[in-house]
Amino acid sequence: MARVQSSFVCSSCGNVTSKWSGRCEACGAWNTIHEEAPATSGPPSKSVTRAKGRNVPLTDLAAAEPPPPRTASGLDELDRVLGGGLVPGSAVLVGGDPGIGKSTLLLQGAAAFGLAGLSVVYVSGEEASAQVRLRAERLGLGTAPVRLAAETNLRDILTTLDGERPDLVVVDSIQTMWADNVESAPGSVAQVRAAAHELTSFAKRRGASVIMVGHVTKDGQLAGPRVVEHMVDTVLYFEGERGHQFRILRSVKNRFGPADEIGVFEMTGGGLAEVANPSALFLSERGTPAPGSVVFAGIEGTRPVLCELQALVAPTPQAQPRRSVVGWDGGRLAMILAVLEARCGIPFAGLDVYLNVAGGMKISEPAADLAVAAALLSAREDVALPPETVVFGEISLSGALRPVTQTENRLKEARKLGFTAAIAPRGGKAGDASGLSLTQMGDLTAFVGDVFGA
Ligand code: TYD
Ligand code: MG
Repeated sequence: MARVQSSFVCSSCGNVTSKWSGRCEACGAWNTIHEEAPATSGPPSKSVTRAKGRNVPLTDLAAAEPPPPRTASGLDELDRVLGGGLVPGSAVLVGGDPGIGKSTLLLQGAAAFGLAGLSVVYVSGEEASAQVRLRAERLGLGTAPVRLAAETNLRDILTTLDGERPDLVVVDSIQTMWADNVESAPGSVAQVRAAAHELTSFAKRRGASVIMVGHVTKDGQLAGPRVVEHMVDTVLYFEGERGHQFRILRSVKNRFGPADEIGVFEMTGGGLAEVANPSALFLSERGTPAPGSVVFAGIEGTRPVLCELQALVAPTPQAQPRRSVVGWDGGRLAMILAVLEARCGIPFAGLDVYLNVAGGMKISEPAADLAVAAALLSAREDVALPPETVVFGEISLSGALRPVTQTENRLKEARKLGFTAAIAPRGGKAGDASGLSLTQMGDLTAFVGDVFGA
């Protein structure tokens, strides 16, 4: 008989290898690889019959099952990120750093869905029911129609839920759940996967929605939410900087709506408050125009969001100058610096470069290229950009400016917030740009010449 091979799983990213190593090849994390017992394989069980694996024509399904109605919670920022509300039978994962506000968000969400008519059960594996009730009272939700349970044994939870048949189950957190038929310790990759699998199957079987909380873990002892991302329908991450009050709920995967959508909240003494106009909030701390500061007109999901990019460029005696980025991609920064040097003859050798997206925002759009270049140049030349100006556009390796999506929406948002000028690539459909002095340019050299006179 062939020897049964066990496999090694990274608890941070879920990558599977055949041998142990100290560092995960896939995500680079140290000490995150753990041995996992092999899944027992054997002949298919006798009870699997042909009928269970049967298939039906796609057209039949359409007629038989109309799309189920979504339920909106009334918390617009949450509903938008879910794709317009909660779909019955869907499994949602909400990941985020410990202490960022996941429990607060989901307790408020559970209460809102309860008030919207769903029967909701909030299962806490981290806090006793009394603690959850206290928190609910502090949030002004003491009378919300939500049932609480403090339990970690998955079998008990599922037995109760099968009896109660709620419309929505919130499980806080997936790392505390424990399946007694899996041998490894709670929080291990095997346990977290088993719990996510059981809860997802429950959602599909009963047509109930399940929202699971997953802590992003750093030490490698606990499995992170990434190991179950592939099992669920929707993956949301709750992000923010500890020092800032802004919190951003971002969808990174959604079978029932657009990905990359964001919802913006503010952590207050009375819980999370929705931020209906994030641009105003992100720009609220902006002072008088200073060298190195540029306002970028971005798009997050379906919504335009304006935010401030800040750059600092300082001489350094080091042979290897620093390149430090917060809120943007370090690789992309290196690319912009290389293009500025190669195409415009502006070197950054011997200069430390720091780039920061204000307000704890994270930007992934290439449309921020031109705004980054503008911030770098403005910091390097110590010249502030013209006031009340927004900048956006993608930069190619040749130094050409490429048009980006939704030019019109970006300009509209800028105008709404009182900006009077915009710099954008040539070729974008600007639509009605009245009220804004719009400068459209074809390449980076023209931009450098026009704006900085270099
Ligand atoms: P929590 O929801 O417990 O975080 P998580 O579940 O992601 O670990 O939130 C914890 C933080 O939020 C805590 O540091 C206190 C802060 N907080 C407020 O500022 N206001 C509030 O109303 C609540 C409930 C929490
Ligand atoms: Mg919590």
